[in-house]
Amino acid sequence: MTSQRISQLVKEMTLKEKAAQLLQLAATFYEDGDGQITGPMESLGIGETEVNYAGSVLGISEPEKIIQIQQAYLAKNRLGIPLLFMADIIHGFKTIFPIPLAMGSSWDLELAERSAEVAAKEAAVSGVHVTFAPMADLVRDPRWGRVMESTGEDPYLNALFARAMVRGFQGENLTCDTDRVAACVKHFAAYGLAEGGRDYNTVDLSERSLREYYLPAYKAALEEGCEMVMTSFNTIDSIPASGNRKLMRDLLRGEWGFDGVLISDWAAIGEMIPHGVAEDEREAALKAIIAGVDIEMMTPTYVHHIPQLVAAGLVDEALIDEAVTRILELKEKLGLFDNPLRGADPEATREIVYCDEHRRIAQELATKSCVLLKNEGLLPLRREQKVAVIGPFAQSGDILGSWSWAGSQETAVQLGTAMQKLAGSDQITLAEGSDIIYVSEQQLQQAEAAAQEADVIVLALGEASAMSGEASSRSDIQLPKAQLELIQVMKRLGKPLAVVLFNGRPLDLHGVIDQADAVLEAWFPGSEGGAAIADLLYGVVNPSGKLTMSFPYAVGQVPVYYNHYNTGRPKPAEDTDEQYVSKYLDIPNAPLLPFGYGLSYTTFEYGSLELSSEKMTSEEAIKVSVEVRNTGEVKGIETVQLYIRDISGEVVRPMKELKDFRKVELAPGEAAQVVFELGEEQLRYYHSDLSFTSDAGKFEVFVGPNSRDTLQAGFHLDK
Ligand code: IFM
Repeated sequence: MTSQRISQLVKEMTLKEKAAQLLQLAATFYEDGDGQITGPMESLGIGETEVNYAGSVLGISEPEKIIQIQQAYLAKNRLGIPLLFMADIIHGFKTIFPIPLAMGSSWDLELAERSAEVAAKEAAVSGVHVTFAPMADLVRDPRWGRVMESTGEDPYLNALFARAMVRGFQGENLTCDTDRVAACVKHFAAYGLAEGGRDYNTVDLSERSLREYYLPAYKAALEEGCEMVMTSFNTIDSIPASGNRKLMRDLLRGEWGFDGVLISDWAAIGEMIPHGVAEDEREAALKAIIAGVDIEMMTPTYVHHIPQLVAAGLVDEALIDEAVTRILELKEKLGLFDNPLRGADPEATREIVYCDEHRRIAQELATKSCVLLKNEGLLPLRREQKVAVIGPFAQSGDILGSWSWAGSQETAVQLGTAMQKLAGSDQITLAEGSDIIYVSEQQLQQAEAAAQEADVIVLALGEASAMSGEASSRSDIQLPKAQLELIQVMKRLGKPLAVVLFNGRPLDLHGVIDQADAVLEAWFPGSEGGAAIADLLYGVVNPSGKLTMSFPYAVGQVPVYYNHYNTGRPKPAEDTDEQYVSKYLDIPNAPLLPFGYGLSYTTFEYGSLELSSEKMTSEEAIKVSVEVRNTGEVKGIETVQLYIRDISGEVVRPMKELKDFRKVELAPGEAAQVVFELGEEQLRYYHSDLSFTSDAGKFEVFVGPNSRDTLQAGFHLDK
């Protein structure tokens, strides 16, 4: 409901002021406002008036600057409309949490929500009003650098995480809760499907697949009340998202009823020209405003052309008023008209930002996000063992990952330091071993000398954080050759060898997993990463993370994901010699490590799978239950996963679809009866006519510790 104040303001604004309200500028346009630059910086050809009347700014994190810019802006702004400050607070502000792909591996929605709440608190007290998060893009191609920013390849799990993050960022009431920020779900839509895993590349898919796999997580964020949406850089059905009327105006606004603010990605409106759907800025502006984009980030097509487009009768001024109203409504909801500085409080930042409590939560989430990929009896380490920690991440602060611009690598807890703290500095020797990309004879010799003295070698290896994230796609997803060489040299020493991996994407682990006795996937674990990993390596905490994106056997398999189709000529067994089946001649079909996979220092045994009935109806759900027992010697957390398969759909159905999961913590010898309720609603999917219904007939149900090693039963849906 538009307030009187907003309607009045819109009436008083000139068309030029309205067009400027739709412009978002980087901090560099404002005095002393240097900040995060996340796109090309071309001259926008705008003057002082546009800067003085632009509606929002992105990328500043210092409260003093925000206060100063807001005050100077309001002193010049005729109608007293405050600026909105937005920024990418993706996995923490100064307290950096694990990257979202790691958070996904925790399967811990409560903790993810808590991390967003902490991020909001730190950002809000620093003056930020809106975060460009969560990224709800489903991902299947690890070559794409931005997989690090997604929670993985499953639409159901991504939707749950998107909801949790929105709740955490926004809280219950943005007007009263000045320690929360508005969320902006991105990138609408299907940005994660960029061809070849190359950033900004073409996306082409059927509307049915779009609805089934890619849209659910964005929609879930909006159902949770997410205030904003960001368009994606890619084309959908050959139309760039930022000018895609069907996607924005018809689906997002029409069908889903989204009435919040829609912002373009950085320069994405101007980019309709190189995409080849606009001859010039004027046409780009026309297409974007008609499509329903309210804020233009970092290109000037709206400020340059909207007044003339309205004057020429090509755009109805009512459309501009609607866009301006939505932006002013958000400002009002955030309380900015009455309190333009909102939460910004430099004094309070000293207490709140990067405080012990926030760092404790970051450590907890980091321990839950690491995934034990292999362990042949080597881990946990014993404190009496002499350990050589070797590699570019043995002592590195580059463990925050991309999109951690306000965080500090200098204060991040490094692995070597944390291990020394835990086991005693006499027990731990550190050596660089290699750089990320290069290795020298001298580094190898020093590494060998350190390793000779040790009982166990821990290699801390990975990608630099700049090797994933935006504009950081790779065609080769192995560890850099220098590090593979380091593994070989260490292996020749014949000592027990553990590898800890720091990276932002699933890697091709050949040359790593086959050489090591144990492998711990630590991702980019954030500010407290070293402490979390040390706890895991020494068994202070038992690993419990499970992958939410498959690790391919080789890059040639990509995209490889668990919820694939069977094909008409499925491969009967991995070692088949049948010719005319769907297979590679040189590698298996299955990924190296499947979705849902992750080990523990204990073992869990699954009893038999029981169904309350072999018949389900629309009215009557069935219960699926299994006993899970901790058969090892230490306490552990297991994530029990429930999948289904529709044996005969109206369209082809995936081999498995995750429908539910339960985390259980069990003491040694303890058992839990895990009971899932499965109802007809969970069997629905998009049919060829886009209706969302289920099919009567046979279904399989699977329960297990990952998407591969499952127990199986069957039931029938009667309708
Ligand atoms: O929010 C980001 C987006 O994800 C990628 N391009 C730049 C934006 C603003 O920094």
